Amino acid sequence: MASVLVLNGPNLGRLGSREPDVYGSQDLEALGELLRVDAEAIPSPEPIRIDLRQTNDEAELISWLYEAVDTKTPVILNPAAFTHYSYALRDAAALVTKAGLPLIEVHISNPHARETFRHTSVISGVASGVIAGFGFTSYRLALIGLLPFLTPEA
Ligand code: DQA
Repeated sequence: MASVLVLNGPNLGRLGSREPDVYGSQDLEALGELLRVDAEAIPSPEPIRIDLRQTNDEAELISWLYEAVDTKTPVILNPAAFTHYSYALRDAAALVTKAGLPLIEVHISNPHARETFRHTSVISGVASGVIAGFGFTSYRLALIGLLPFLTPEA
């Protein structure tokens, strides 16, 4: 079975109640459901498993990126606040893309339309692509971005 790792950084476990005016009122479980329905509709030689995880721990997030490299799994990553300052996460994300695996950086909000500190991403420079500002649709668009990897024959 093919997998996609959908990795979420700090405070995203509070989606649903955290700043709903910015992040909407749906939680991570609802996001997982949306992505699983989308994944089922992808005409792939084998079923696509959505492996959605969240952590507040930088080291854990880094270990999941190592796992992506070791298992050759494409990644959708919302690094949350780590986006703006974690060089350690950037170096780990670079390991994924240098291994020839896609890593798409996503954001629910559009950080460029928010506070100045959110305008910098230390991750974007090593990501395969960046999608921001579309709510949960950012993740769904990222899944579409992974299609050439998931269905190479199509
Ligand atoms: C976020 C944007 C970040 O600036 C913020 O720290 C988050 C969420 C987003 O999805 O819009 O936690 O990554």
